[in-house]
Amino acid sequence: AVDALVIFTPSGKRGRFALGTPVLTAARQLGVDLDSVCGGRGICSKCQITPGYGEFSKHGVTVEADALSEWNAVEDRYKRIRGLIDGRRLGCQAKVMGDIVIDVPPESQVHKQVIRKSATDRHIEMDPATRSYYVEVDEPDMHEPTGDFERLLRALKAQWNIEGVETDLSVLRRLQPVLRKGEWKATVVLNKGNHDAQHRLLDIHPGYHEAPLYGLAVDLGSTTIAGHLCDLADGKVLASSGLMNPQIRFGEDLMSRVSYAMMNPGGDIEMTKAVREALNALALSIAQEAGVEPGAIYEMVIVCNPVMHHLLMGIDPVELGQAPFALATSGALSMDAQELDLGNLNRKARVYVLPCIAGHVGADAAAVALSEEPQKSDDMVLIVDVGTNAEILLGNTTRVLACSSPTGPAFEGAQISSGQRAAPGAIERIEIDPVTKEPRFRVIGSDLWSDDAGFEAATSGTGITGICGSGIIEAVAEMRMAGLIDQSGLIGSPDQTGTPRSEPFGRTFSYVLHDATATGGPKISVTQGDIRAIQLAKAALYAGSKLLMDTMGVEKVDRVTLAGAFGAHISPKHAMVLGMIPDVPLDHVRSAGNAAGTGARIALLNRAARDQIEGLVHNIHKVETAIEPKFQEHFVNASAIPNAVEPFPELGQ
Ligand code: FES
Repeated sequence: AVDALVIFTPSGKRGRFALGTPVLTAARQLGVDLDSVCGGRGICSKCQITPGYGEFSKHGVTVEADALSEWNAVEDRYKRIRGLIDGRRLGCQAKVMGDIVIDVPPESQVHKQVIRKSATDRHIEMDPATRSYYVEVDEPDMHEPTGDFERLLRALKAQWNIEGVETDLSVLRRLQPVLRKGEWKATVVLNKGNHDAQHRLLDIHPGYHEAPLYGLAVDLGSTTIAGHLCDLADGKVLASSGLMNPQIRFGEDLMSRVSYAMMNPGGDIEMTKAVREALNALALSIAQEAGVEPGAIYEMVIVCNPVMHHLLMGIDPVELGQAPFALATSGALSMDAQELDLGNLNRKARVYVLPCIAGHVGADAAAVALSEEPQKSDDMVLIVDVGTNAEILLGNTTRVLACSSPTGPAFEGAQISSGQRAAPGAIERIEIDPVTKEPRFRVIGSDLWSDDAGFEAATSGTGITGICGSGIIEAVAEMRMAGLIDQSGLIGSPDQTGTPRSEPFGRTFSYVLHDATATGGPKISVTQGDIRAIQLAKAALYAGSKLLMDTMGVEKVDRVTLAGAFGAHISPKHAMVLGMIPDVPLDHVRSAGNAAGTGARIALLNRAARDQIEGLVHNIHKVETAIEPKFQEHFVNASAIPNAVEPFPELGQ
């Protein structure tokens, strides 16, 4: 025979190829997803395949052991230096010598799926905008007067079929020494965003440059900024970390920051500077945590609410503070990181910002939609992203509605007397005995309850420092269930509650959760002010959800998804006892973790997802809470615990 049948798994693609055709070449011709950075030169090892031997009745072929060419010197060298799993071959070296079935393992696929860490983790298919390509460039020749850059372009066209590459002076200045140092071999980093007609040359390294490329997915919230550092080749999250949004010193919530900009000339510029410095600091610290060079961060995807969006871009947010709440632009944005003064990233790094839905419903809500996909749900699903500003989505395959609701920072531990960020030492779980009114609790960093033996020893390192967002929700709900507060949220006196833990606090009472003052430690109480702050926050959340349900014309939802940085930690039962979320069977409430952050990660790793969300935002109908009279009515009713008018049959009420 002069040719042979080649079948690739798992794709099932097949074709006949002349004997001696490299497997990589066959894969490319059939459109099989087989990775390569070095273009088949035996350098990168991205092209690993596993040949199958034996009978493949499903495919009707029998494979002889020698259906591939002999193991060659390049593979030998590769295996010696770097190791190669037994049975693996380099697809660019092994040639087809007979009928064969060839398996492409997941690691060798460009469009591989990101490995999921948990069942709730989303599938993400890799299709990053930034990739490396190894090229061999012709040396200059006096008789053929072309520039080094033009010969680089020619090599990219010939070796990668890539046309249309733009660059700028900062890269051109480094081009000549790099090409000569690499003896006319180089690895280029190219970026092509979903709107770009051309590739951008972001970076160039001499020779074959192995170092991975990184991207940073950022959820820029009013109170906290959370980042995930991802490997752009396999999507792995190398480090996640967060910091407080330094704009807090200009106002705790969004509207107070808009007012700050209105009242103080240049106030918006100060806030722009503060948030950019914070993003820069985050990039540096997260890179250090992962042990990588911040200069290897080539992309950043940011999701945020409209006010954060405008302040980050350096656009005065004043129009967002008044009806009709016009955005400067609602479209997705791409720009150079340098335009945002993000000097800690690679000097040519690109930034993509998801589109906004409307003046009060931002790119963070779009990111939640991208991650949770309400438009694909048959059930009517309510998605609540809890933060200082809550993003709420309601919908199913027929229609999706969105609103945002100003919950304030209470759920993030701010405005709470003993509130703190979720960190070791913070109380996160609470139970109160309905008879004795005695509390027991758990703190972040230990699995023990406060009445377990060994609790003190287990928490001696961190101490017990305060209450985090999920802790305060449980505290208030447990206080209600134990009869320490009434439906209006008022804390009873020691006489009314029958416990000395209820103690006078100004003209009201507070409930003492933990008192370590005797040993110089803190006293952690839930005050009347704390309860009020939680009531306002949860009422805003509920009113927003209810307004969407009104607009949708539904009395009940089928499912509730709690999202947000601490959404994953909220106990559904306590959220419902408080009346934070509408009545629904408890097992129909699920946590989605940081859905906005996940949405940012999806957009970072997959270009098609950017197109998808840009299309989807046009079909999400936004409901404006600020001008809707019904919102006020729902808000007032929802200030009671759980609610002054709405029934909660699932709670037995
Ligand atoms: Fe790079 Fe095979 S394609 S080693």
